[in-house]
Amino acid sequence: MSETTHILVIDDEKNYLLVLEALLTDAGYAVTALNDPETALAFLEESEVDVVITDMKMPRVTGREVLERVKKTWPHIPVCIMTAFGSIEGAVDVMKYGAFDYITKPFSNDELLLSVQNAAELSRVHRQYRALRANLEERYGTHQIIGRSKAIREVLDMVDRAAPSRSTVLITGESGTGKELVARAIHFSSPRNSGPFVSVNCMALNPGVLESELFGHEKGSFTGAMAMRRGRFEQADGGTLFLDEIGELTPELQVKLLRVLQERRFERVGGGDEIEVDIRVVAATNKDLQKEVENGTFREDLYYRLNVVHVALPPLRERREDIPLLVGHFVEKLARDNGMKPKTFTPEAHDYLTGYEWPGNIRQLQNVVERCLVLVASDTVGVDDLPPEIRDEESQLKSAVDLLPVRLDLADTLEKIEAALIRRALVRAEFVQVKAAELLGISKSLLQYKLKKYGITGH
Ligand SMILES: Nc1ncnc2c1ncn2[C@@H]1O[C@H](COP(=O)(O)OP(=O)(O)OP(=O)(O)O)[C@@H](O)[C@H]1O
Ligand SMILES: [Mg+2]
Repeated sequence: MSETTHILVIDDEKNYLLVLEALLTDAGYAVTALNDPETALAFLEESEVDVVITDMKMPRVTGREVLERVKKTWPHIPVCIMTAFGSIEGAVDVMKYGAFDYITKPFSNDELLLSVQNAAELSRVHRQYRALRANLEERYGTHQIIGRSKAIREVLDMVDRAAPSRSTVLITGESGTGKELVARAIHFSSPRNSGPFVSVNCMALNPGVLESELFGHEKGSFTGAMAMRRGRFEQADGGTLFLDEIGELTPELQVKLLRVLQERRFERVGGGDEIEVDIRVVAATNKDLQKEVENGTFREDLYYRLNVVHVALPPLRERREDIPLLVGHFVEKLARDNGMKPKTFTPEAHDYLTGYEWPGNIRQLQNVVERCLVLVASDTVGVDDLPPEIRDEESQLKSAVDLLPVRLDLADTLEKIEAALIRRALVRAEFVQVKAAELLGISKSLLQYKLKKYGITGH
């Protein structure tokens, strides 16, 4: 186990604190020793503690009160109580309130260490149990990947092939295409599925915070670092670390990440000891990393390290045949989760949903379905019930135009758009020109003229 057990000692007598701190530190524990119970409780709020040792008799807040508070808020942390020799009733009392053990003062070192060792063991088992339970919930809850298009079957194939190994996986795809879902699926179909799945969004935090979030920090390594903190890399030990929005990493963090990926070891911020971890890294981005490499904003060596296995998620508009399936899936799931009656979409409404471009992909589809379930009064959802951006051409056009740069060459852009629309119509019409012309509302001869003009050929 690479993790150090973190022990919080609370005693108003400074001498005892010093002795305990030295004894426990020598025994290999990470120790925080505080002489004020109120500070200690505040400390618990923002740190990860494995075991609490507290004195019983203290001014203002007693050990009993510390115990009650810990049991209430952090029931998984074992608490050992130190009592003065002779107050045996008090000891029985605290055991009734859920103390893990009590130690009478003065104690022998062995006696104290044994008690702490047992408490640490319990804490470790608790931690594993919580990770397992969380995993099981996720495993049966969220990783259903719906779809039977060729594109999604290729993705599922990749997941199956990648899962058994420890190779790093890079997942790319537009926003809302299911990158996180796929990352979880890889974890839960892998041999490490009983280990933790730990997810970090590299965009949500500023670089300094992200660094200590990932690698953890030692007590006192910067102002505000009141305690040692385990980073996500340590938390993911034995499991999978999901690095979301990896394209947002600063150059400095790119270097650090590369080192961990190569050596599987690192140091906490402000720390000396090297920590070894057994993790699998799955990274995701909606950026074109290859391009970022060419621009010089993303390290090429890191890119190759991450891109051992590449899963490219197709946008929803490129696998429209999955749309009806997904609609059915979300109707059922949302109805079940919210205790509502499922609704059906009319065939016409389905046509609109299937024809829409879905810039926000599956997440947007899910939102639309949810909105219909909540807002529509009748059991069937018709075209008029759909949000305007899907139902009406004008707003569809507007959202497409909103994606274009403000500065552009009008004539040139219009031609490009025309060519793109023609290509798309051909694909949708399976290259039957009469059908494509019909979709575009033009004659077959006009279509043929334009195909020639833009140099578009059959398949
Ligand atoms: N194939 C699928 N089947 C069922 N649900 C899906 C599928 N793909 C995605 N979803 C659902 O769509 C939503 C968005 O997926 P997810 O969060 O994985 O996307 P993402 O690619 O990580 O998006 P972003 O880039 O915005 O972070 C989630 O609620 C997810 O459960
Ligand atoms: Mg995501």
